[in-house]
Amino acid sequence: MSSSSSTPYSAPHMVWKYLKYKLKAGNKHNVHPPTLFNFAEQVLQKASRIRYRSAENERRRLKKSKQILNFLDFGKNGVILQKAVSDIAKYSLKSPKYAKLLCKITEYYNAKNVLELGTSLGITTAYLARSSTTTVTTLEGDPSVVKIAESVWSQLGHTNIKSIVGPFEKTLDDAVKTQYDIIYIDGNHKLGPTLRYFDQLLHASHPKTLFIFDDIHYSEEMEKAWESLKADKRISSTIDLFFIGIVYIDPALSKQNFTLRF
Ligand SMILES: C[S@@+](CC[C@H](N)C(=O)[O-])C[C@H]1O[C@@H](n2cnc3c(N)ncnc32)[C@H](O)[C@@H]1O
Repeated sequence: MSSSSSTPYSAPHMVWKYLKYKLKAGNKHNVHPPTLFNFAEQVLQKASRIRYRSAENERRRLKKSKQILNFLDFGKNGVILQKAVSDIAKYSLKSPKYAKLLCKITEYYNAKNVLELGTSLGITTAYLARSSTTTVTTLEGDPSVVKIAESVWSQLGHTNIKSIVGPFEKTLDDAVKTQYDIIYIDGNHKLGPTLRYFDQLLHASHPKTLFIFDDIHYSEEMEKAWESLKADKRISSTIDLFFIGIVYIDPALSKQNFTLRF
């Protein structure tokens, strides 16, 4: 049992941590392996040309929704909470900046199969699935958000998204039967589950698979999870972008941890 807390850090603490990250973060010149240098230059530093206006229209529409859901919260042991769709759209989704980054990473690596843990309203899923040559499998515990996500994808014309509903603890068994090029973990931000999902998902990876962990500085537990991943011998290089952490398991890369500006 861990003695650290899964409670999110307070807003002032996060601001302080973010400022520290900004001071510490390097750029492409701090990254030596050519493949990571190119990634830093092309993906992190080059201005994004990605525009997904229809997805942003859907985000705006959901932010104004009056709908209240009986939300099955697996982050809180499956209790049912009343949640406003507008609040979920405002506070639980990756911002356009990071949704674009995830899209850019998927397209840069020409990922054919992507797995997302934590669908929510499906806006980030749509960004991951922007290229029609990519198939996204997305897992979510609450059926009511999935219903909304499905209507978003249908509005955006996505036929390349496969949604699996149920607790990760059950649905991962099926999901790991496929091999993924990118695995984005954005659900259940706790130490034990994060590390367990990683262990399990290694079975669904190949040496070039990229793991992306969300909110690595969100709480004491998530920071412990990130430290543990950085020290893990199965992982070669990591890139800390503060709001997400990128993990390479490619043995061709040396074991190094970078903190880069984004
Ligand atoms: C932060 S939201 C995902 C946001 C989404 N990736 C985005 O950026 O638009 C996390 C989601 O994970 C789901 N979740 C958390 N723990 C889960 C679990 N153990 N099993 C299934 N779903 C879970 C929650 O229901 C929630 O909708």
